[in-house]
Amino acid sequence: MWTATETVDPKPICLIVAACKHMGIGKGGDLPWHLPNEFNYFIDKITSITTAGKKNLLVSGRKSYEPFPKSCMPLPNCYIAVLSRTLNSVPKHAHYLCRDLPSAIKLASTPPLSKEIETIWIIGGVETYIEAMKHPWCELLYLTEIMAEFDCDTFFPEFDRKVYKLVDEFPGVPTGIQEEEGIKYKFHVFKRDATLKN
Ligand SMILES: NC(=O)c1ccc[n+]([C@@H]2O[C@H](COP(=O)([O-])OP(=O)(O)OC[C@H]3O[C@@H](n4cnc5c(N)ncnc54)[C@H](OP(=O)(O)O)[C@@H]3O)[C@@H](O)[C@H]2O)c1
Repeated sequence: MWTATETVDPKPICLIVAACKHMGIGKGGDLPWHLPNEFNYFIDKITSITTAGKKNLLVSGRKSYEPFPKSCMPLPNCYIAVLSRTLNSVPKHAHYLCRDLPSAIKLASTPPLSKEIETIWIIGGVETYIEAMKHPWCELLYLTEIMAEFDCDTFFPEFDRKVYKLVDEFPGVPTGIQEEEGIKYKFHVFKRDATLKN
């Protein structure tokens, strides 16, 4: 039960996603492409902290977490919260099981975890992205534009580009067209216009 006396320490919420033409993000429960350098960029962003000793809380829907390569675990500087209404135990290598996104955000922003958490990273899937973008603490959307068409069954939602505005250059984000495996892609960052309501 939420009480008025509870200490809330708001945390920045960031989304990260890679999407191909028509905003496809997934196929058959996995990524439609194999782009190791793009994946390393994703890992680099979600594990980066600016203050030593801090950690990020990664929030993932159950289906996005299932194919996550376990060879990357444990991820440095991270706790992982998996969202599920059906699971009864915390999945392997994750730290928390949450029944909904507000519970995960509350976990990160109230004691005891709030002392440790720097950023809440939303790593998918669709329902979590949609809900997180409406949250007032949501600041940044890291979107890799995969400049190719892949057969997809999961799509990143439409979002209001007057609210989330494309940033020309962003620290730590390479500019220009990248290429690997014969596929071109670009890293983008959209920043929420704090003066607008979503
Ligand atoms: N390209 C990218 O950057 C990227 C990023 C992420 C994912 N993906 C891809 O997208 C696909 C998976 O995404 P998806 O949207 O289908 O599934 P998802 O959101 O990852 O997982 C759906 C499941 O997560 C749980 N869940 C999600 N939102 C919840 C909420 N708000 N509260 C409680 N539980 C919640 C539910 O689990 P229960 O059924 O257990 O209740 C739901 O059935 C995969 O193909 C994946 O590879 C791509």
